[in-house]
Amino acid sequence: MQIHTTIPEMRAACRAARQGQKRLGFVPTMGALHEGHLSLVRAARASCDAVAVSIFVNPTQFGPNEDLAQYPRSFERDRLLLEKENVDLLFAPSVEEMYPAGAVTWVTVEGLSQKLDGRSRPGHFRGVTTIVSKLFHIIEPDAAFFGQKDAAQVAVIRRMVRDLNFPVEIVACPIVREADGLAMSSRNMFLDKQQRQQALALHRSLMLVKSAWETGETVASRLAAIGRSEIEREGSVRLDYFEIADPNNLDPLANVSRGALVAVAAFVGSTRLIDNILL
Ligand code: PAJ
Repeated sequence: MQIHTTIPEMRAACRAARQGQKRLGFVPTMGALHEGHLSLVRAARASCDAVAVSIFVNPTQFGPNEDLAQYPRSFERDRLLLEKENVDLLFAPSVEEMYPAGAVTWVTVEGLSQKLDGRSRPGHFRGVTTIVSKLFHIIEPDAAFFGQKDAAQVAVIRRMVRDLNFPVEIVACPIVREADGLAMSSRNMFLDKQQRQQALALHRSLMLVKSAWETGETVASRLAAIGRSEIEREGSVRLDYFEIADPNNLDPLANVSRGALVAVAAFVGSTRLIDNILL
């Protein structure tokens, strides 16, 4: 596996990897890798000739009171995991490399970026779309792989790629969960034993909504009420949002036919967790 930390080196290595009509797959990450990330790498490996991964904890997508400084960093461990998955190219730039002093240009997906997590985390998606644009320009992948775990992120990136004509296919991959249902997340390591149990309320709330829908309930407000009350039953979990939305434009739905996104965000202690299902 080649490791590059500068933009010119990574650009040249990606160009070389694409030579001769080869399909280059790309998985952007912030490191602290787990099976969720690795599932994206495997999906890329299965459908591409070469695979590039980035590890970059992107400061512009963290709010002033969020966990940028605490965000887990485990480069050596991540490197070994990616070697095992036969990744070809790893890009691990510094903050200065990605954001030269005086950088004032942003990529913003209007509207969509203010919904779901974007409403709770102002500026978050602007940071995501800006860094993902920069990474796409450097790596020029044929396909990029994202987790359905961050459903709003997938919708925002898809819209950006469409609106700005990026020549890249966006592939969304299923959520990878722990055996008890908790969606894997780099932030799960912040949970103590008790909080780890309490965190199961998120998945439970989604499963209750799913079974109500399966037995015929289609009114979104009633389905959301079922989910919210399950979160509220776990007194120590503080709900951020529980919403039923169109997975493409993230607008709230009144009625659930096919293709509804049921999304929840909640704080367990000071750790913000998200999860979702598609109906
Ligand atoms: P990060 O949180 O590291 O996630 C990188 C990718 O892994 C994202 O596409 C995310 O949806 C996916 N992922 C995380 N947990 C998952 C799980 N349990 N199952 C499946 N996929 C999972 O998302 C980001 O980084 C950043 O916003 C980034 C796109 C890298 C831009 O900075």
